[in-house]
Order: sequence, then structure tokens, then C-alpha cells
Amino acid sequence: MTPDVTRIRRSRSPQETEALAGELGTRLEPGDLVALIGDLGAGKTVFARGLGAGLGVTSGVKSPTFVLVREYAGRCTVLHADAYRLDGESDWEGLGIDERREDAVVIVEWADRVLEHMGRPAVTIRIEDGQSDDERQLTMTGPLSLLEGLGERNEGGLS
Ligand SMILES: Nc1ncnc2c1ncn2[C@@H]1O[C@H](COP(=O)(O)OP(=O)(O)O)[C@@H](O)[C@H]1O
Ligand SMILES: [Mg+2]
Repeated sequence: MTPDVTRIRRSRSPQETEALAGELGTRLEPGDLVALIGDLGAGKTVFARGLGAGLGVTSGVKSPTFVLVREYAGRCTVLHADAYRLDGESDWEGLGIDERREDAVVIVEWADRVLEHMGRPAVTIRIEDGQSDDERQLTMTGPLSLLEGLGERNEGGLS
């Protein structure tokens, strides 16, 4: 197991967040779990949509808040879960994700609610508010192989 690195990126729009996530999505493999952490409206679902696009999901990723898990077919199965209402290990197990994890990329919103139950994430993304309405700070932790150079094309530009 390679040691994790942390990368911090600023996003100035939902499109920028989606593009960054899309880049990460192209690097993910079945068995990878992406933990998304951030308050309501932070941009977790926006990020998940970008991941889906990068994984070849063409149908468009929607919030799984009311169904708990949505399933998509990209270049591999994509399972998108919302842990907001989950409480404890049995709730997590009830999602039926553990059994299918090996063959799927798993995206979990509100991952901080089930961190001790869901197994080790490949990447953890924390999304926080920035200086203005449309600005977000994304703190990404994972192996360099997944995070190297991610979003750098947009960094530092004033346009
Ligand atoms: N830089 C940004 N990145 C992501 N979302 C943004 C950004 N700026 C504004 N937004 C808006 O914030 C909201 C995020 O919503 P959503 O992804 O559903 O949040 P969450 O799933 O974390 O509750 C959307 O309305 C989106 O348009
Ligand atoms: Mg959401």
C-alpha cells in the first residue's frame, strides 16, 4: 500500500468541480471507494456527477438521498450512496454495498457518518466553502497515482 498524499484545490464553479472529479473518475478502478465529506450544499453530488462522467456513465448522476443507493453502468458498475440518514453498522450493511464492492466503484456522500463501517476509501474528498458563493476548497487525500496533477490545468488562472 502506497502512502497517502493530500492535495488542496480551489474550485470557482460547479463546472470546475465536475471537471476535476471527471479527471479523477478516469483513474478509478473497480474496488475503489470515494468518500465525500461536506455540509449540505457543499457540492458532493456535483462531484459525484463528475466522477460518473469520468467513469463513462452517460445517464447523468442524481442525488441518491431518497433511495440511499443508485446504481449506474459506466465502464464498470458505479454505486452511489448517501449516508446522511444512516446510523450505525447495520444500516451500512443494509445497503448491500460490501458484497458488491470488489466489482464496482463506490461513491459515498456523507461518508463521515459511516467511516468506521465502510472500509478504507481509496480517496477522501472534503469540500468546504470558499471566499465567495461559488468557490469551494477541495481537500483530497489518497495515493499519488490517483491525485497527481489533478485539476492543475485550472489552477492559478484568473480567467
Ligand atoms: N464550486 C462549486 N462546486 C460545486 N458546487 C457548487 C460550486 N459553486 C456553487 N455550487 C452549487 O452548490 C450546490 C451543491 O449542491 P450538491 O452537489 O447537491 O451538494 P451536496 O450534495 O453536498 O449537498 C449546487 O447548487 C451547485 O450548483
Ligand atoms: Mg448530495
